[in-house]
Amino acid sequence: PFVVTENCIKCKYTDCVEVCPVDCFHEGPNFLVIDPDECIDCTLCEPECPINAIYPEDDVPAGQEAFVALNAELSKAWPVITTRKDPLPDAKEWEGKPGKIDVLER
Ligand code: SF4
Ligand code: F3S
Repeated sequence: PFVVTENCIKCKYTDCVEVCPVDCFHEGPNFLVIDPDECIDCTLCEPECPINAIYPEDDVPAGQEAFVALNAELSKAWPVITTRKDPLPDAKEWEGKPGKIDVLER
């Protein structure tokens, strides 16, 4: 499956959700995740993210391995999102900042 990684936190552009043919994106307060049990590896979402937050599970950036388990866990708790919405208000300032996992809201 594909995995949403750290750069999505505090940004949440949501361009990714509309292309998923199996509706496997789930939305939390400041982050999105992919349900690994639903993802069919179609690859459509990966190029849609303007800040490159989506990776195949086997190719997540070094140091971000924890996001594989986080997507699996949080996708069971958060509701499905299929419609694009405005990014979070300070998205531009948070793009590419390291250590955003510390501000992940559940
Ligand atoms: Fe959905 Fe395809 Fe992305 Fe998986 S790879 S989350 S099926 S759009
Ligand atoms: Fe997040 Fe990128 Fe989707 S910022 S909401 S993974 S378009």
